Amino acid sequence: MAAHGNGPGMGVATRGRLLFGGDYNPEQWPPETWHDDVRLMKDAGVNLATVGVFSWATLEPRPGARDFGWLDRVLELLHEAGIGVCLATPTASPPPWMGSRHPETLPRDENGTVVWYGSRNQFCPSSPVYRDYARRIAEDLARRYGGHPALRLWHIGNEYCTSCWCDETARHFRAWLRERYATLAALNEAWGTAFWSQRYDSWEEIIPPRRAQYLINPAQALDFRRFSSDALLECFVAERDVVAAHSPGTPVTTNFMPLFAGQDGWRWAAEEDVVSVDVYPDPAAAPDDPAGPAHGALVQDLTRSQARGPWMLMEQAASAVNFRPVNRPKPEGLMRQWSLQAVARGADAVCFFQWRASRQGSEKFHSAMLPHAGEHSRTFRQVRDLGAELGALSGVAGTRVEADIAVLHDWDAWWASGQPGRPSAALDYPAVLAAWHQALWEQSLTADFAHPEARLAGYRMVVVPQLYLLTDAALDGLDAYVRGGGTLVCGFFTGVADADDRVREGGVDARLRRLLGIARVHEWWPLAEGETLRLTDGSAASVWSEDLEPADATETVAAYAEGPLAGRPAITRATPGEGTAWYVSTLPERPTLRALLAQAARGAGVAPVLPGLAPGVEAVRRGAFLFLLNHRREQVTIPLQHPHTDLLTGHTHADGITLGRYGVAVLSASTNRTTPTTTPTSKVSRICDGGEPSP
Ligand code: GLA
Repeated sequence: MAAHGNGPGMGVATRGRLLFGGDYNPEQWPPETWHDDVRLMKDAGVNLATVGVFSWATLEPRPGARDFGWLDRVLELLHEAGIGVCLATPTASPPPWMGSRHPETLPRDENGTVVWYGSRNQFCPSSPVYRDYARRIAEDLARRYGGHPALRLWHIGNEYCTSCWCDETARHFRAWLRERYATLAALNEAWGTAFWSQRYDSWEEIIPPRRAQYLINPAQALDFRRFSSDALLECFVAERDVVAAHSPGTPVTTNFMPLFAGQDGWRWAAEEDVVSVDVYPDPAAAPDDPAGPAHGALVQDLTRSQARGPWMLMEQAASAVNFRPVNRPKPEGLMRQWSLQAVARGADAVCFFQWRASRQGSEKFHSAMLPHAGEHSRTFRQVRDLGAELGALSGVAGTRVEADIAVLHDWDAWWASGQPGRPSAALDYPAVLAAWHQALWEQSLTADFAHPEARLAGYRMVVVPQLYLLTDAALDGLDAYVRGGGTLVCGFFTGVADADDRVREGGVDARLRRLLGIARVHEWWPLAEGETLRLTDGSAASVWSEDLEPADATETVAAYAEGPLAGRPAITRATPGEGTAWYVSTLPERPTLRALLAQAARGAGVAPVLPGLAPGVEAVRRGAFLFLLNHRREQVTIPLQHPHTDLLTGHTHADGITLGRYGVAVLSASTNRTTPTTTPTSKVSRICDGGEPSP
């Protein structure tokens, strides 16, 4: 597998349009409604409908039976209307007959309890019976529709997320472990089974980390996370290969959940032609709340980085969701703004869950492009307006977002640092990652995410919020990057464990300590939940502190001002080789983290997209276009150095632009509204041309 390889979405020059549409579930409606759907889709400017995501029981009402007639008609209707189809394999939700006739396909949790049908996602990823039925329905769909003129894209499964601890999974886990370790001796060594008498004498003794009396072996648990992601990935790859065989050239995707722990997103993205994601920030969040637009920006930057170029927003809500305790609609303008935020950060597709709101089922109170209130509703009007605006932005399709900063992120490190038996259960990897990303986002310092072993030479600054586990290759890469002149800003509890979750000699890897100018970390000193510590620069910090001993030449930028570590360094800076290495042994409050990153960025020669923006104003450059978004409650005026034309309004702004609440502008220095000044290179935007994407 080409993990961390070239990645998808690369190198296909095209003149595209942005994709606009959503999940379309016609099987929930009588055929008369389909005509109405197509009429309104055209009205709204929809050019892509994702069909069949949950239609397995309709397509295969009993084992081996096929009912494709309704889907034939739906695809024809869409095609006649010029609407492209993203055709899903329905394998995220097996029909009840499968669980009833083949109970071994149902997943079991850590306690051995069966997870029943009656919802969705009830399959054991290791089950040969499930896999066989999934392959057969995917193959029959691909045979029938692989050459259909409406087909633009394959969508395999949906939000792969199931884990299982059953006996079939145990067999599969053992095979995976044999592949990884070859010998039991190597496995015993990697898992440290001398501890607590856990030595395995035969492969047959090994089980998934099921419910046990006390803490589970952490290396076993880490390998099980890796295995569970790989087991799901095998399901994806098997279906991908089947559909690809019957429709060569049609790209394949599967939709990720945002910053989801269950899939190693780097390995998965390398197996996709197009990377897509579902994002549902909380519309009730205040502008500076991490759950609001900052969450959107993080997920968008991550997906762009996984795609190494343009990507698809496969799902978002037109208004309210139904999975939070209280589900607030999106106020007027917010859906538009968050859609354009995705475009700003590299999306070539803005799609929704779902086209028409369901009247039955668990998601009947989830909003849709066409809500229960119908075509004369506020939501549908906004959807139609957005469709028209995306049409005016076709010049953006395929263009790229360039970043000088890389934030290192890794699922292995996340999995390892999240296990019990650590210095602090309050350490929350995604929250730390989000805090650092938000501090960059808030000052329009554009960042990519990168795997720790990725090539870093193209970035002026590398940020490591917190990577407990780092491989030797990653440590060597960081060392070479900094000594060669790069700037590293490294957060706490990093470089502690190797790939087997074995604590490194000296507690923190020696290469990293030398690089950071840290002689020793005597002890981790985590803070209680909600506890803060004052630093000597007057700021406060939370979550973590460390008893550090810096090397002689290392500068202490700020020290702990209170508590047991008072007077000890908290933030340090060293200058190894040609580069600069900051170490941040705690989680500074947001203004301090912002200031620190701004200072490091200045030193590295990285400038914000626009300097001096008011808090809550986001600026991103994509190709030749400058996107400005106002997340503040009040209007804001943004000065401009020279005249720009707003592609959304056609107005030219000489020296400044005023944006109201949720306001967005897409500015081009050129007065030509649609001609891009860079060469677009997106396989995604190629989809809506109906052209054959290159491999
Ligand atoms: C996910 C799923 C959809 C739907 C939405 C609701 O993104 O893929 O099927 O359940 O959530 O928000």
